[in-house]
This record gives sequence, C-alpha cells and structure tokens, in this order.
Amino acid sequence: MAGEAHPACGVPGTVDRQELRVKRELFDIPEGVIYLDGNSLGAAPKHVAERMQEVVRHQWGTRLIRSWSEGWWEAPQRIGDRVGRLIGAAPGQVVVGDSTSVNVFKALMGAVKGTSRTEIVCDESTFPTDGYIAQSVASLTGLKIRGAHPSSLDLTEDTAVVLLNQVDYRTGALNDMKALTEQAHGVGAQVVWDLCHSAGVLPIELDALGVDFAIGCTYKFLNGGPGSPAFIYVPTHKQATFENPLSGWNGHREPFAMETSYEPDPGIVRARVGTPDILSMLALDAALDVWDDVDLAELRERGLELTALFRAQVEKLTNLEVITPEVRGNQISVRCPDAKAVMDELIARGVIGDQRPPDILRFGFAPLYVTDEDAIRAAEVLAEVTR
Ligand SMILES: Cc1ncc(COP(=O)(O)O)c(C=O)c1O
Repeated sequence: MAGEAHPACGVPGTVDRQELRVKRELFDIPEGVIYLDGNSLGAAPKHVAERMQEVVRHQWGTRLIRSWSEGWWEAPQRIGDRVGRLIGAAPGQVVVGDSTSVNVFKALMGAVKGTSRTEIVCDESTFPTDGYIAQSVASLTGLKIRGAHPSSLDLTEDTAVVLLNQVDYRTGALNDMKALTEQAHGVGAQVVWDLCHSAGVLPIELDALGVDFAIGCTYKFLNGGPGSPAFIYVPTHKQATFENPLSGWNGHREPFAMETSYEPDPGIVRARVGTPDILSMLALDAALDVWDDVDLAELRERGLELTALFRAQVEKLTNLEVITPEVRGNQISVRCPDAKAVMDELIARGVIGDQRPPDILRFGFAPLYVTDEDAIRAAEVLAEVTR
C-alpha cells in the first residue's frame, strides 16, 4: 500500500510496493549476489549478449561494410536521442561517443571559446578526471582555474564557466541543478553539468532548466557496459556557435566529401569526433531497451526508498557513520576504517559495492534490479563484517 512503513525499519514508502517495476529478472546477476555497484558499472541486461551476437554475426559478419549505411553511421545521434529522453533533452541535442573525459574537454573548450572572462570554476569535490581536464583547458586557453564547493561557488563576472556534478561520486550528495544553473547564469557564466552519477537515477530537465552543456557516462546506472560511450548535450540554440575543439571528420558537414578544410555540421553532429566504437555503442543501444517504459519519477521514489532503508539499517545495526546527506542520489556512502579490507570481505560474502580511499564504502542502489531484501541483507552483512 502506498505510504506504508517498511516492516524492517519503519521508513515510510511513497510508491506502492506491489506496483513497482523491479526488473531484476531482466538482468544477469548471479544467484546469491547482491549487486550494489551500479554507480560504478551497471549490471548487464540479459538480452544484450544475444543482441551482440546478432551485431557481430549479422551486421558485421554478413553485412560487412554495408552496415555503415544501414544504421551504424547515424547511431551516435539515434542513441543520443534515447539518452536524451532520460535527461530531459528533446531530440537532436545529444550524441554518444568518446569517453566522459573527452566530452568534458569538448564542453569546457566550447564554453570558454571567445570569452573575455578569466576563470573556470570547478567543483572541488569532483571526480578527478573532470578537474584534470579543466586544468588542461585552463592551460590551453590561459584562463585561471579555481576549485570551489557547490555550496559556496562565489561566482563573479570573471567566471566564464562552472563545471559541476549533479551527484557527488564520493558522498552521493545531490546538487540543486536548477539553483546552481540560475546562479551561474545570474553572473553571465555558463554551466557544464556532469551527469555520470545522476543519469538513470532521477528525472533531469536539461532543456527546461536552460543548461548550457551536459556530459556523462552510460556505464553506470544506464547499464551500457564497461567503457560504453559517453554522451554530450549541446542545446539547439548553442549548436551554431559551439566549436568542437576536436575537429574530427565525423563532425564535418560533408564527411564523405573528403574536403581538406573542416566545416562543422550545423547541428549536434558537430560534437562527434572520429569513427564511433560501434560494438560498444550497440551494446548500449540494447541496454537502453530496459529503460523504454521506465517512469523516472517512480524510479526516483524507489531510489529514495532503497537508500533510506539501507541507511536506517546501517544506523541500526552498526556504529558506522553514513556520510551521505539527506538530499542524495542513489548511493549511500559509509565512513569505515579499513575500508578496503571490509569491502573485500563484503564481496567475498556476496555483497558487491566498492570503496574509495581513504575510508569510504560506497553502495549504489539501482532500483531496476535491487530489492528491499537486498538492502536489508547488505546492511546485515556489513554489520557482521564490521562487528
Ligand atoms: C563524475 C565522473 N566523471 C567522469 C568519470 C569518468 O570519466 P571517463 O568515462 O572518461 O573515464 C567518472 C567515473 O567514474 C565520474 O564518476
């Protein structure tokens, strides 16, 4: 019944548990494993293996080079639109390809191109690659880089662009995309959102919030597979002026004209670079089928329920400190001495999460395949291991 308290911990539910669409049977999770690392590598939807057989045997094996004109060439845009639906982007504004790091570079270089402003502000708690790339952009462009926490960005009219994460990879904290985007725009700065830990977690409204650029990976909550291509969002109104710093032939307006000079495609295609990794891309395409009928608002409620349940159980059964704030993504992080040894033991006992140095255990809750029972059992095993 909607709103009924969970029997194990008294946490009130907001979604009718009988109606939830847990799709665990669609995923290849071994018996006896509680998989709480979808925030790092999402589980494999079962049908992906079969689809990849078809891709390799038929599309590559039989159709050979013809497959490029039978769907491969446009795959980055087509699959980009599928991702776009999950992040509030109307068609024609997202392409998949390259890694997140490369897309951070494209978005930041695009954002600072031609600016007379002097600084790039980077979320100081960000996943390191974003900071490293921002440093490269700063040294290539001569802008200064300043680290700041999203709670105190201190933006000024010197700020050209702010690079932010919607969900913090370490703590699971959820940043307020609307308020922070408005804050950046209030001083005339642009904003690049890293959605690695939020795509597939909650409804995102890139178009409605007027976000300038967004990037993210697809191998976490979207279950695209190890190293699956990342995505970049460039809204329609910015495309004509967006200058991709990596002017590869895939972004050319006439790639097969083999012209010697680069002229970008007028639309989102200009965010492409080189030949796409078709096998990875089509594995992602298959994995996205699972999302076709997912209601992101309902999924969000489930994510909140699962994380509340796990948090309550950890607080009841252990002395460990949960560092994830109330406003969160689908992750609970726990401070724990000997985090590596504890996680190794949890994994040996079938509870798979991960750890980040020096002392943080991370547990990701992907509502498509994690159940209440998983959350409760995982907390019990954590208590046994840390007793
Ligand atoms: C917030 C964030 N950005 C970027 C990355 C990784 O970038 P890439 O896909 O280029 O390895 C991660 C990986 O976990 C991440 O958590």
